[in-house]
Amino acid sequence: MEMCLGSSYPAIARSTSRLTPLAVLLAFFLVFSSLTYTEAYDSLDPNGNITIKWDVMQWTPDGYVAVVTIFNFQQYRHIQTPGWTLGWTWAKKEVIWSMVGAQTTEQGDCSRFKGNIPHCCKKDPTVVDLLPGTPYNMQIANCCKGGVISSWVQDPANAASSFQLSVGQAGTTNKTVRVPKNFTLRAPGPGYTCGIAKIVKPTKFISQDGRRTTQALMTWNVTCTYSQFLSQKTPTCCVSLSSFYNDTIVNCPTCTCGCQNNITQPGSCVEGDSPYLASAINGPGKYSYTPLVQCTSHMCPIRVHWHVKLNYKEYWRVKITITNFNYRMNYTQWNLVVQHPNFDNLTQIFSFNYKSLTPYGAINDTAMLWGIKYYNDLLMAAGPFGNVQSELLFRKDSSTFTFQKGWAFPRRIYFNGDNCVMPPPDAYPWLPNASPRSVGPLLLPVMVFLATLACLLVYV
Ligand SMILES: *[C@@H]1O[C@H](CO)[C@@H](O)[C@H](O)[C@H]1NC(C)=O
Ligand SMILES: *[C@@H]1O[C@H](CO)[C@@H](O)[C@H](O)[C@H]1NC(C)=O
Ligand SMILES: *[C@@H]1O[C@H](CO)[C@@H](O)[C@H](O)[C@H]1NC(C)=O
Ligand SMILES: *[C@@H]1O[C@H](CO)[C@@H](O)[C@H](O)[C@H]1NC(C)=O
Ligand SMILES: *[C@@H]1O[C@H](CO)[C@@H](O)[C@H](O)[C@H]1NC(C)=O
Ligand SMILES: *[C@@H]1O[C@H](CO)[C@@H](O)[C@H](O)[C@H]1NC(C)=O
Ligand SMILES: *[C@@H]1O[C@H](CO)[C@@H](O)[C@H](O)[C@H]1NC(C)=O
Ligand SMILES: *[C@@H]1O[C@H](CO)[C@@H](O)[C@H](O)[C@H]1NC(C)=O
Ligand SMILES: *[C@@H]1O[C@H](CO)[C@@H](O)[C@H](O)[C@H]1NC(C)=O
Repeated sequence: MEMCLGSSYPAIARSTSRLTPLAVLLAFFLVFSSLTYTEAYDSLDPNGNITIKWDVMQWTPDGYVAVVTIFNFQQYRHIQTPGWTLGWTWAKKEVIWSMVGAQTTEQGDCSRFKGNIPHCCKKDPTVVDLLPGTPYNMQIANCCKGGVISSWVQDPANAASSFQLSVGQAGTTNKTVRVPKNFTLRAPGPGYTCGIAKIVKPTKFISQDGRRTTQALMTWNVTCTYSQFLSQKTPTCCVSLSSFYNDTIVNCPTCTCGCQNNITQPGSCVEGDSPYLASAINGPGKYSYTPLVQCTSHMCPIRVHWHVKLNYKEYWRVKITITNFNYRMNYTQWNLVVQHPNFDNLTQIFSFNYKSLTPYGAINDTAMLWGIKYYNDLLMAAGPFGNVQSELLFRKDSSTFTFQKGWAFPRRIYFNGDNCVMPPPDAYPWLPNASPRSVGPLLLPVMVFLATLACLLVYV
């Protein structure tokens, strides 16, 4: 389905000027459906989810001890500083006697207790991770990373986060325990929706030497999925394009992520050379993580620039630059997902890590790129150091390679798992003396119609 969008969409938009009203309508439908599609379900990571697993390890006189583990099964979406926040609602009158490796943000009203005071008495506790450097006696494995969880591809060893809690006033057998309800996961903002907790087969633990297996007394799982639309209503990233064969630099579409409006929203952005820059960065909203962006025509916190740099006989070369326009965010462990048909012949990549993602099985056109540890895995806040760059060398496959029709430009780019808005295909830099009317006038609407029909069939 995505291939069908990928190949027909540029062809349509490039020739909008000459299309029949029917084709325009169909093209509109295609564009519209590709947008909703991106927001609702991620075709590049169809199984991506965060699974929260509760393992009851021990019954206590008034409840149980459980180890809770948050697994990030998403290929390229990570949780960066200031980390995850997990909440739920107890089904009965449970309290948390103690926690190891995490803490609740509020204790709540424990006034009915004498002597031992619980860690938390709230009906709907909110839990956060502890910070690195927590004393050893307050740690368990996989805890205390300030709520940061890597993506599955980038660092599978750090793609989970755990804590332990002792629950009181709960059931003490697998018949009387009630699973908590209404799980919420913030990372740290909205975007995730969690399902209900399902009782599953108890987890089996294999000892270090592999000679003994133990198991949890009871286990339940909760699955949370991400939607960019829930996370933020406007885009946060855009793509600009240039090439060696045309002087035009195609900038991000104007107002992609917002518009500069000095009248209704003064201070919606700051000029890079403004004397008030420092006070604006430390001004209201400093801890809210709402972006404070440098004034640009697109107003996006992140811009990805794709430059078609060189043409060799058997290879061609691309330069990618990611620029941070947000004064309030250092992006740690950032990543980029890029879709381009030539990724199956990527020969060399400089100064970024690379892994191919194959969401469609055999079709190898999607790559995940991320920074090299201690070198460029930190994308600094806006300013002179707020960018990272890489060059990619592709081997030409004579059956597909062309500089015509914007083929050399990416089909889709994600930054940290969020879609980056591309310029409209009819604005792409053209080859000299190539016009967008390179397809026969009659053939094109027919092709558009067939492609649309194929897409419609898949959608319905
Ligand atoms: C969550 O992701 C894992 C790993 O990709 C997958 O096995 C599991 O089926 C997914 N769960 C759901 C409910 O999609
Ligand atoms: C509870 O434990 C009993 C016996 O140990 C087992 O047969 C039953 O399947 C368990 N029920 C659940 C919901 O785990
Ligand atoms: C769970 O959330 C829903 C919707 O937010 C609410 O209607 C319901 O009362 C909540 N359940 C509990 C047990 O808090
Ligand atoms: C529950 O979650 C664990 C860890 O993510 C996973 O290994 C297990 O397969 C899940 N069980 C079910 C039934 O989804
Ligand atoms: C907003 O102010 C900036 C500089 O202060 C100026 O460059 C820009 O044109 C103004 N935009 C509008 C819409 O007035
Ligand atoms: C980003 O990192 C630099 C250097 O570590 C630090 O000086 C700066 O305050 C950080 N900015 C933000 C917004 O966290
Ligand atoms: C995809 O192509 C790249 C570059 O040729 C190659 O290194 C990688 O192994 C391929 N991946 C798969 C899953 O075929
Ligand atoms: C490009 O990759 C495809 C799939 O891996 C392979 O069949 C083809 O021979 C490669 N082309 C070149 C020129 O390396
Ligand atoms: C470069 O591309 C632009 C479209 O972005 C086009 O208007 C212009 O004519 C092209 N320049 C040349 C020299 O072909």
